[in-house]
Amino acid sequence: MNEIDNLGASLLADIAGAQDETALEQVRIAALGKAGSISALLKTLGAMTPEERKEKGPLINGLRDTVQGALSARKEALGEAALDARLASETVDITLPVREGPEARGRIHPISQVIDEITAIFGDMGFSVAEGPDVETDDLNFTKLNFPIGHPAREMHDTFFFAPDANGERKLLRTHTSPVQVRTMMAQEPPIRVICPGRTYRMDSDQTHTPMFHQVEGLVIDKKAHMGHMKWVLEEFCKAFFEIDNVKMRFRPSFFPFTEPSVEVDIQCSRKGGEIRFGEGEDWLEILGCGMVHPNVLRNCGLDPDVYQGFAWGMGIDRIAMLKYGMPDLRPFFEADLRWLAHYGFRPLDLPTLTGGLSS
Ligand code: DAH
Repeated sequence: MNEIDNLGASLLADIAGAQDETALEQVRIAALGKAGSISALLKTLGAMTPEERKEKGPLINGLRDTVQGALSARKEALGEAALDARLASETVDITLPVREGPEARGRIHPISQVIDEITAIFGDMGFSVAEGPDVETDDLNFTKLNFPIGHPAREMHDTFFFAPDANGERKLLRTHTSPVQVRTMMAQEPPIRVICPGRTYRMDSDQTHTPMFHQVEGLVIDKKAHMGHMKWVLEEFCKAFFEIDNVKMRFRPSFFPFTEPSVEVDIQCSRKGGEIRFGEGEDWLEILGCGMVHPNVLRNCGLDPDVYQGFAWGMGIDRIAMLKYGMPDLRPFFEADLRWLAHYGFRPLDLPTLTGGLSS
């Protein structure tokens, strides 16, 4: 065997023996790279006599073609083998159940859901949202709202008071969202249309009361707002919130220091089989307090009661959430039990809107 045949045989053996693409590339470089063995042979052609070249040329070129062909055949075979191995190792069992992602498993708390629903309804009527702090002054929680100093109504609220500070001022956890009315009137010129959802606190705990609970306050102040407007706003709210076409409401005279006249509102319901249903039946259920803002409150907030007037209401968010979604006990709302949340919570991507449906 001559030199060319020897080289060919050894390169073909190396190609056949290469176990992966990296090893095969090494063989290619050793043969056809700049300093490769076949490249070296090709270079010798230039120095040959025409006769020699006529004889060796086809042999060397033939060797190059053979080796190139063997390299690409081996490369293809190795690629196919690698793919087969990968396919064999990466099996997917398509009969396994799909695991839900966090966006499908997470739940929105019913209170957050109901606040979003309330905001969507009043937002549609042109109300904006106002907020205030949970820790309030006695002045904003009571005095500016026309509770006289020492009046028993202050105690009726079962207030959590803080120890008096150096100036003798006693802060408290707000007992209602009504101080946000005061903050809004003091900060903003009428016309005012706000709702104020938030946490409120009273020393109370049983099946339907927790020391921390939620209220939503509403306030409308301009030069003409009257009880008729208030009735319409509250009726439209109840229809939209409880998702019923017809709601019968009863307005009963009542007393709040910050409204005159003051009214409590009941809605008609049936309690057949222990289940409360709205829009039918002969029973009544109290859902909110409201009235025309007392002239003293307007004056305390820097508004002239001879120019401005308006109405306000306050409603328990937890209570209307329980009524709408049929939850019998308020306490588990705040126990952070994931089983309860999985049952009563809402899907995070189902945002409540009036057009898309509030609670669907
Ligand atoms: N602040 C009252 C409460 O917590 C609820 C309330 C009643 C608010 C009448 C109002 C209102 O704005 O006009 O019991």
